[in-house]
Amino acid sequence: MNTYRIAVLAGDGIGPETMAATLPILRAAAHKFGFHLDLEEALVGGAAIDATGRALPEETLTVCRHSQAILFGAVGGPRWEALPPEKQPERAALLPLRRTFGLYANLRPISCYPELLSSSPLKTEIARGVDLLVVRELTGGLYFGQPKGTVMTDRGERAIDTLVYETSEIERVARVAFEAARARKKFVTLVDKANVLESSLLWRKTIRRIAADYTDVQLGFLYVDNAAMQLVRNPRQFDVLLCENLFGDILSDEAAALCGSLGMLPSASLGKARFGLYEPAGGSAPDIAGKGIANPSAEILCAALLLRYSLGEEKAALAIEAAFRATLSDGFRTPDIASDGAKTVGTEAFAQAILDRFENP
Ligand code: NAD
Ligand code: IPM
Ligand code: MN
Repeated sequence: MNTYRIAVLAGDGIGPETMAATLPILRAAAHKFGFHLDLEEALVGGAAIDATGRALPEETLTVCRHSQAILFGAVGGPRWEALPPEKQPERAALLPLRRTFGLYANLRPISCYPELLSSSPLKTEIARGVDLLVVRELTGGLYFGQPKGTVMTDRGERAIDTLVYETSEIERVARVAFEAARARKKFVTLVDKANVLESSLLWRKTIRRIAADYTDVQLGFLYVDNAAMQLVRNPRQFDVLLCENLFGDILSDEAAALCGSLGMLPSASLGKARFGLYEPAGGSAPDIAGKGIANPSAEILCAALLLRYSLGEEKAALAIEAAFRATLSDGFRTPDIASDGAKTVGTEAFAQAILDRFENP
């Protein structure tokens, strides 16, 4: 029997709630599809700061290093916003995790499910059939570029972030986007700001060169401002959106909302090997944390992506995704995806409904 070790980092806010809802489904998947899962829980983020003084303790990194994948909840929240910026959960835990493990490609699949068309802020005829993948570069750009920091000058404070990309960083994530497009509708759109940014020119030049290896895939270009507008005007025109780090961050939240809720968008952060970090695109949601109403779908769909990409357990991944769809079809809704008059359930009941349909499809 295959045995896999998974690092489980629930983190802060709704993270522990959606994680608690997800683990029984992962365990059921192992049981049903005949593999063994070692789920190793470890502290991260604000919870780790409170317990150990550090957002990413060495013990947690060790657990991650000994695992085939990380299932992540969320980190951050008002409680830790007064800390020095480089000590806060986002910058001291999440970004180092991505960087330490070389997870340069973040895949964010967004589909408007027919069951949820009435939860979209768009007109039904615009939202229907939307199915796109944001491929977000994750370890470069403004998030990591040096120099970075705040210095005092004779005119007051001066804050610096640096947008820098090298050819090799663009090339490897571009290949991920083209490969993904090959298995989809064969259309990559590079989102950039090539009318202003030097780094965008390097993205365009590099993509054009890489595209020669993928002549079966069509390539398009859009400036990011236009892309943000096209996403609400006609999102069905897109297949794979390839973005530098910050543009991908912003556009993926927007795209998630078009299909109902940020609470349904999972993501896979991948590098050269099979190891991956599976992180909901949304955050710790302080406005609803502790109320038992968070949508666990993003976390549960993260578990499915983990099974697919890091463990190669495709059947188990498909079965979880099918159970999720069946739960929507049967009318279960957390408050974030409830349209007028729909009966809503909390995190636990929604996840239980998925588990029931997973066990008895
Ligand atoms: P957020 O994503 O936490 O919340 C934005 C909105 O989306 C809120 O109204 C929230 O209730 C809703 N939402 C998000 N996930 C949901 C879910 N599963 N179910 C229902 N509704 C959901 O963004 P924010 O409020 O800007 O940030 C809050 C904190 O989370 C900040 O500290 C931020 O840095 C952090 N954050 C962490 C991650 C991460 O750990 N991967 C991602 C994004 C934001
Ligand atoms: C995301 C989040 C993170 C990001 C933050 C919390 C650092 O917004 O995963 O989308 O910007 O990458
Ligand atoms: Mn984000």
